[in-house]
Amino acid sequence: MRILVTGGAGYIGSHTVVELLSVGHDVIVIDNFSNSKSSSFEAISKISGKDVIFYEGDVADISFLRNVFSKHSIDAVIHFAGYKAVGESVEKPLKYYDNNLISTIRLLEVMEEYQCYRLVFSSSATVYGSPKSLPILEDFSLSTTNPYGTTKLMIETILTDVSASNSKWSFAMLRYFNPIGAHESGMIGEDPNGIPNNLMPYIMKVSTGELPDLKIFGNDYDTPDGTGVRDYIHVVDLAKGHLKAIDYVMEHVGVEAFNLGTGHGVSVLDLVHTFERVNHISIPYTIVERRSGDIASCYADCTKAHEKLHWTSSKTLEEMCEDSYRYVINQKKK
Ligand code: WQD
Repeated sequence: MRILVTGGAGYIGSHTVVELLSVGHDVIVIDNFSNSKSSSFEAISKISGKDVIFYEGDVADISFLRNVFSKHSIDAVIHFAGYKAVGESVEKPLKYYDNNLISTIRLLEVMEEYQCYRLVFSSSATVYGSPKSLPILEDFSLSTTNPYGTTKLMIETILTDVSASNSKWSFAMLRYFNPIGAHESGMIGEDPNGIPNNLMPYIMKVSTGELPDLKIFGNDYDTPDGTGVRDYIHVVDLAKGHLKAIDYVMEHVGVEAFNLGTGHGVSVLDLVHTFERVNHISIPYTIVERRSGDIASCYADCTKAHEKLHWTSSKTLEEMCEDSYRYVINQKKK
């Protein structure tokens, strides 16, 4: 099938493009490189042995979208494109609401114009806010604590309303927990601009000496070792979940949300120590005060994705740490 991937040069997008190509899909990517590099496509071609058709442009630009849809008969869309920094979204909410919402609305409008009614959406576990219990199920109440998370929840609402308006639409909303790791080739991975907000990219920069030490945000949570607990999932497992979601939206109509995680909670210290052990290096850290807005624990119940998407994560925390380190060392050699 021919799949359009918005934001396909990004971290999760590029890994998903590799998996799409590996099973024989034709892939078209649109990306404005606001949080990615065009060099991703060279790496994707080297890994997959196939070329990716890509267009540089903004998903919110309706004439750009129409140009792409007029050139290719697209069977389904995977929509990654969007800003995703929680902290920045608090400082610049209008930037996030404008970009993330308008681009999605324009994309849906053009999809409808070209009778393309199948979309996989990159949502987030952040829509659960502070869960009432664990593990988290898809029917838990939804609430958000920052504009980034609110754009994800708003887009889920838009998709739900659009689905109700026309039974031709088919949406799978994938709620990612904490994606980390990199393709085993070490050629693609997470490489955020500036000082990383998230734990693993920060650890990666400490491991190469780019940053002196890790600040652990609090060790007084109600968790086994006092540090925050999250459901870290290998980005390749996540990418494979998108392939299953594509198959699902091709065979169903309506709108469904799916948790994509491992179902296991891992603490900050667990992750740091595993990273040190498998990579035979030390990650110096200091315990500092909690980060505002953080919750103590968050991990998924992935039964629905297992039963309806026939998908389950398989990669271990050790592999996530080994693959992350291999990527960052490869990047340093460049
Ligand atoms: C994980 C744990 C921190 C950095 C975020 C977004 C969420 C989603 C995934 C997009 C927490 C601790 C972190 C550091 C630390 N993104 N930590 N020192 O906050 O669970 O989720 O990324 O959808 O929307 O909110 O991930 O990696 O920032 O934090 O101690 O320098 O690591 O307190 O316990 P988080 P994270």
